[in-house]
Amino acid sequence: MHDVSIFRFKHKQRFGAEPAVFVAPGRVNLIGEHTDYAEGFVMPAAIDFATLAAISPRSDGKIALYSENYGEERHFDASAVPTMKASKHWTDYPLGVVSILAGEGHAIPAFSLSLWGDVPLGSGLSSSAALEVATALAVLSVLNATYPRPQLARLCQRAENEFVGSSCGIMDQFISANGSKDHAMLLDCRDLSFRLAPIPPDIALVIANTMVKHSVTGGDYTTRRAEVEAACAVIASHRPGVQFLRDATVDDLERWGNEMSAESLKRAHHVITENLRTVSFAKALEKGDMNEVGRLMAEAHTSYSQDFEASCVEADAMVELAQDLPGLIGARLTGGGFGGCTINLVEQSQATTFAQALGSLYAGQFGIVPQIHICHASDGARALN
Ligand code: GLA
Repeated sequence: MHDVSIFRFKHKQRFGAEPAVFVAPGRVNLIGEHTDYAEGFVMPAAIDFATLAAISPRSDGKIALYSENYGEERHFDASAVPTMKASKHWTDYPLGVVSILAGEGHAIPAFSLSLWGDVPLGSGLSSSAALEVATALAVLSVLNATYPRPQLARLCQRAENEFVGSSCGIMDQFISANGSKDHAMLLDCRDLSFRLAPIPPDIALVIANTMVKHSVTGGDYTTRRAEVEAACAVIASHRPGVQFLRDATVDDLERWGNEMSAESLKRAHHVITENLRTVSFAKALEKGDMNEVGRLMAEAHTSYSQDFEASCVEADAMVELAQDLPGLIGARLTGGGFGGCTINLVEQSQATTFAQALGSLYAGQFGIVPQIHICHASDGARALN
C-alpha cells in the first residue's frame, strides 16, 4: 500500500492545507454471486488493496478532486452538485457520493479531496466501492456527520445506482465499510445482519486476474439482473409471498419454470442454489471442513459458468488450471463476472509456489501474464489520523 505520510504530504503541497486521511478496502467474494440484489447471502472479505482519501476544507465554494492514479485535478461548484449528472469519468464516483449526501439534506461545503488507490480496476475486486466508501468517510468528516456503517454502505450503493448508473447490489460497499481483519463475512442482504467467520491462518487467499476486463455498468450484469427479476416475477404471480429469489425454491422452478424464458430459468436456478451453497460454505469454513469448502466452490463455479453464463473462456481455464496444483482447496470466478479474477483458497505453505505455477500455466495457454496476488482479509474503512 501507498505510504500514507507521502500521500498526506502531497495533498498539503497541492492544496496548502493539512488533510484528514481515510482508507477503504476492495473485496474478494468467496461465494454468493449475484445473490445480493435478490436479498440473498454473500460471503466476501475485505482485502489489502484499498483507496486512500485525503480531505481538507476550502473557502472558495469549490470542490477540488485530484486523482493521483490519473494525475488529474478537476474543480466543481459545491452549490452545483445537487443538479449534476454523471459524465462517465472517474469523478462520477466521488461526485455521486456527494450528490447523495446533498439529497440527504447536507449542505455541501467546499473541500479539496485527493484520491489514490491500488485496487486493480475492472477486475471484480470492487475498486468502485472502495472509492465511494473512502470518499463518503472523508466528506462526512468535513460535514462533522456520521452514519452507522450499514447506512453508510447504503448511501454509497445509492451513489452507484442513482448517480453512476450501475445496478449493483449492496455487497461491495457493505464489506468495504464493515470488513474485519482475518475474517470473511456471511452477510444476509435482506436485513444486513452478518456473522464473521475467521479465515484460518494456514489458508491463503490467492487472487488470480485473468486480465479480461469486467464492468458492472450496463451490459451483461444488467441483463442478468433483469433475467433474475423476470424469473422472480413468474414465481411471485403464483406465490405472492415471493418478493425476491431469496424466497424461492428449486421446487418453485420445477413447477413454474416452463412459464419463464430458458435464460431466466437457468439464472434463477443459479441464484436459488447459490444461496443454499453460501450458507453451507459458511458452516463448512467455521467447522474447518476444507473438503466441503472446496466442493462448494467448485459447484458454485460450475453454476456461475453454466447456469448463470457469467464466466468466460479465460476464467474457466484459470479455475481448471488450478485444480491439479498442490495446496488448492477451492477455486472459482469471483465478483460480477464476464472476466476479472478467480479466488483460490490455498494452503498457506503452498501459496507462493501455487501462484507461480498458476501464472505460468495461464501465460502458456493464453500468452498473457496474469497478475496473481496473495491477499489477506483486512479491516473495513477507517480514519488514518
Ligand atoms: C458486483 C456488484 C455486487 C454483486 C456482484 C455479484 O460486484 O457490485 O453488488 O452483485 O457483482 O455477486
